[in-house]
Amino acid sequence: MAAALHATTSILFVCLGNICRSPMAEGIFRTMAQQNGLGEIRLDSCGTGGWHIGDPPDSRAIAKVAEYGVDISDLRARQIAASDFGRFDLILTMDSANFDTVTAQAPSDRQNRIHRFLHLTLDRPEDVPDPYYGGPDGFEQVHRMLAEGSAALQARIQSDRASL
Ligand code: 4NP
Repeated sequence: MAAALHATTSILFVCLGNICRSPMAEGIFRTMAQQNGLGEIRLDSCGTGGWHIGDPPDSRAIAKVAEYGVDISDLRARQIAASDFGRFDLILTMDSANFDTVTAQAPSDRQNRIHRFLHLTLDRPEDVPDPYYGGPDGFEQVHRMLAEGSAALQARIQSDRASL
């Protein structure tokens, strides 16, 4: 389990392409934070791969989160950069492959900021599965995981703040 999260002021969500899972996570977390009155938390997302740099999220990802009142149409894909490791308190990867790629690039004093999303948020040793090559059910499943995990993480940040 990670250290107390009361001082979390910035979160980077990471997946492979930065057009499905991590922009969905960024948008879901941002909208929920506004609804929960979480205050200023800087959010961003990126991919470990560079195939989609500059692209908007996949249309299926945009449509899925829009069903839940979340707009990610303005986001544009980028690849993780060395400077990210100094700029974010938490770096949450969608799956174990992303986790291995990111930890291999991170300096040793930043390793403890990097976690698998579902491990940190719900204490579940599971990946958020890549929905890119699947059908619509995959995007619904990803949405559910990200919404549940985001709610749990926000509750934890708020309870850690309250126990200061
Ligand atoms: P994401 O999904 O990592 O959730 O954004 C993918 C999007 C594109 C590719 C792979 C995964 N791709 O290989 O182009």
